[in-house]
Amino acid sequence: MSVLVTGGTGFIGSHTVVELLNVGEDVVIVDNLCNSRIEVLERITAITGKTPKFYKGDLLDVELVERVFSENKIDSIIHFAGLKSGAESILEPGKYLNTNIISTFNLLNAMEKHNVYKLVFSSSATVYGTPEEVPDYEIDLVGKVCSPYGLSKYLIELLLKDFASQRKDFKFIALRYFNLVGAHPSGLIGEDDGQSIPNNLVPYITKVLLGQLPYLKVYGNSYDTVDGTGLRDYIHVVDLAKGHLAALNYLNNTDVKFDVFNLGTGKGTTVLQLVAAFEKVSGKKIPYQITDIRPGDVPLSFASVEKANKILGWKAEYTYEDCARDSWNWQVKNPYGYSKE
Ligand code: NAD
Ligand code: UD1
Repeated sequence: MSVLVTGGTGFIGSHTVVELLNVGEDVVIVDNLCNSRIEVLERITAITGKTPKFYKGDLLDVELVERVFSENKIDSIIHFAGLKSGAESILEPGKYLNTNIISTFNLLNAMEKHNVYKLVFSSSATVYGTPEEVPDYEIDLVGKVCSPYGLSKYLIELLLKDFASQRKDFKFIALRYFNLVGAHPSGLIGEDDGQSIPNNLVPYITKVLLGQLPYLKVYGNSYDTVDGTGLRDYIHVVDLAKGHLAALNYLNNTDVKFDVFNLGTGKGTTVLQLVAAFEKVSGKKIPYQITDIRPGDVPLSFASVEKANKILGWKAEYTYEDCARDSWNWQVKNPYGYSKE
């Protein structure tokens, strides 16, 4: 029996595939490579000594999905595949809603046909919108989202909950990720955002450190934090990957129908604290300028992690300094991501 990992050559997917292979699971990946590269497979093999089965294809392609389910004995699914840029989704809402939601529908239909009952879904802290208070608890109000991307995550959570409640045997978990950073400690896999100018803080910092961008813009220094800069819950991708194994284990051993869990560290780190950590691990100064706040930014965001600790028995181990070390290690070894230049 195999675990089907959709989006398994992507950033989080590849790290989760490594953890699954390391504990002896058989893995089947489906990915259309719209935001990842085939070279990831060799890197996974270099780390684990094993090669997952791979289908290059789109989850919007119903025939492809059917082929994957009929050619493999699938026990459970981790569903990462989807489009993930909040900013891009504001420009192309239809593309985001269609891809993310219809892909999930196609998977659910195939699951029903082939009697596959367990699925872990990649949701996001973005479903909390701009919370009135932090930390974010799973029971807090969700759905006041700031982008079509956020809307797609919220709607898929509702869809999964409804689907499971209407059918016997189906079990789903939605994991709400906080800010993903870090890379595999080997430096062989990490986040590859190609040649584009990053929106997110960590890839921006590493490109400034490599001299590919001149300086960092720090978006605002008058938030209610120790140094006035924005505060986030930065979680290492290896910790996050392990959270998926804990979620699968929970699905395998309980009668849960649908549940949601935050995956974060439970601690907030400011922009300037993260900058200092990168300066330490790289031994270089990071030039920056304080600018106006970025429209749409939430001031503070961090997770309550009590539920995941208690019920999944999972806890993040890496600190934000570890994240800086591993992100930097990956970027130095792969200054242009998986491409040679
Ligand atoms: P990623 O872009 O690196 O990985 C997603 C993978 O899915 C890519 O390899 C892409 O090629 C593939 N894909 C996209 N659409 C597809 C389709 N229609 N059919 C088949 N494959 C398709 O992203 P990631 O950072 O690894 O994120 C994985 C999931 O986690 C996404 O659903 C994302 O929304 C969610 N998430 C990510 C973050 C983050 O900060 N990275 C935060 C919260 C939630
Ligand atoms: C962003 C996205 C969100 C997505 C999340 C995870 C926006 C408005 N939000 O959130 O949809 O779910 O990433 O991928 O794009 N910062 C700087 N300078 C920079 C970049 C960021 O100061 O060049 C600051 C931000 O103001 C924030 C922190 O760094 O305080 C983290 O920013 P970022 O990495 O973009 O993540 P989020 O804002 O949490």
